[in-house]
Amino acid sequence: MTKPRLSVIGTGYLGATHAVCMAELGFDVIGLDVDPVKVARLAAGEVPFFEPGLDDLLRKTLDSGRLRFTTSYDEIAEFADVHFLCVGTPQRKGEFAADMSYVDNAIEALAPRLTRPCVVAGKSTVPVGTAERLAAYLREHAPAGSDVELVWNPEFLREGYAVDDTMSPDRLVFGVTSPRGEEAMRAAFAPILDAGVPAVITDLATAQLVKVSANAFLATKISFINAMAEVCEAVHADVKKLSEALSYDTRIGGRFLHAGLGFGGGCLPKDIRAFMARAGELGVDQALSFLTEVDAINQRRRARMVDLARECVDGSFQGRQVGVLGAAFKPNSDDIRDSPALDVANRIRKAGALVTVYDPAALDNARRDYPDLAYAETALDAARDADIVLHLTEWREFRDMDPRVLDGVVREKSIVDGRNALDPDLWRAAGWRYRALGRP
Ligand SMILES: NC(=O)c1ccc[n+]([C@@H]2O[C@H](COP(=O)([O-])OP(=O)(O)OC[C@H]3O[C@@H](n4cnc5c(N)ncnc54)[C@H](O)[C@@H]3O)[C@@H](O)[C@H]2O)c1
Repeated sequence: MTKPRLSVIGTGYLGATHAVCMAELGFDVIGLDVDPVKVARLAAGEVPFFEPGLDDLLRKTLDSGRLRFTTSYDEIAEFADVHFLCVGTPQRKGEFAADMSYVDNAIEALAPRLTRPCVVAGKSTVPVGTAERLAAYLREHAPAGSDVELVWNPEFLREGYAVDDTMSPDRLVFGVTSPRGEEAMRAAFAPILDAGVPAVITDLATAQLVKVSANAFLATKISFINAMAEVCEAVHADVKKLSEALSYDTRIGGRFLHAGLGFGGGCLPKDIRAFMARAGELGVDQALSFLTEVDAINQRRRARMVDLARECVDGSFQGRQVGVLGAAFKPNSDDIRDSPALDVANRIRKAGALVTVYDPAALDNARRDYPDLAYAETALDAARDADIVLHLTEWREFRDMDPRVLDGVVREKSIVDGRNALDPDLWRAAGWRYRALGRP
């Protein structure tokens, strides 16, 4: 396999980015999705979500002729040597476990069409054991039988940096069961490996675990500093200074050590819950019981944010105007899945406030999922007549904001910085009451 032809199954945040980047690296790629609208938009050169740099690269790779999109499983089965599986694995409603129906549907659609040798490379984040189950299914249902190989290749990209993370990842992980599977992965990632990116070769179970344990670690680090923020609040200490001091310790490091409103999005929350659910099935639930607390600390930050904002409007939201800066779960993304910002905004609305939200990229998604919130097209309009302004997603636009631009529009010069990302001195010097989580 010198230069394999690739398919990417599921063209969401992960799959669309992967398809475009692999085409940019010189491979012939077909992206497949069951959503015909998404496929049509991608084929027309339009990324259906916000991801910096991806639009230009999509148009460039479409023009090159190396990238196309389809809804036809027949087409990709005929075409590709390596099929990357990138469909969603959301949390099941009312449970911690992951909903595996999208993965299962994709494999069930693909398997009977695999009449020639190929490799199926799982990228979705899955409960450990899934790869082994899918491999058995493929062996049984693919006409090419043992010529179809399953490997696991977990993905670590961050939304907002997805292109860079895909083109130059920290590492690649290939979970394989044979030299052939490893060769296929080395061929499919040759340009990245040639650039010196390390590859860790593992068995299937380890590869699946790398992803969920990475997310468990990151979630734990965030919740650790947020737990320290809770303690700081009790003694009027400053968690921002605390984390700064900790960060100089090279054993600890400063990344993912920012206290604030906590994590959200389509990965960390559901991945740690699915990991706990799977550990329970495996009889090792005690090993992950600490993740229950990690999740609880994270949820408590949202409640604390609401309480702090309420304190700042003299104890009641009834009839108050609240301006919210940020809706996406993090900056540089339009992803609102389990967004702490929208969760807080919605709790405050339910408590009787009129909440107006502005976000540089996520307004359409927010309007769709939270129709009862009010929305504004600019930060200024969101803050108009506000009794309080809440900074809930740390977009550069907000971090760089001169407080004086809001002076004339708000009713009260009062801000709560849910992300500890604004400069308190600057805001206070401009006459604002500045409050933040974990700080005096
Ligand atoms: N978004 C991230 O930053 C990120 C990072 C690493 C890993 N992951 C993992 O990658 C997976 C995908 O995440 P995402 O954020 O891209 O999700 P997403 O919801 O944006 O995309 C999933 C896509 O799969 C499509 N799909 C569903 N069923 C299908 C089927 N049977 N055949 C073909 N396409 C189908 C959907 O239409 C959708 O476009 C998840 O397991 C996630 O945990 C995501």
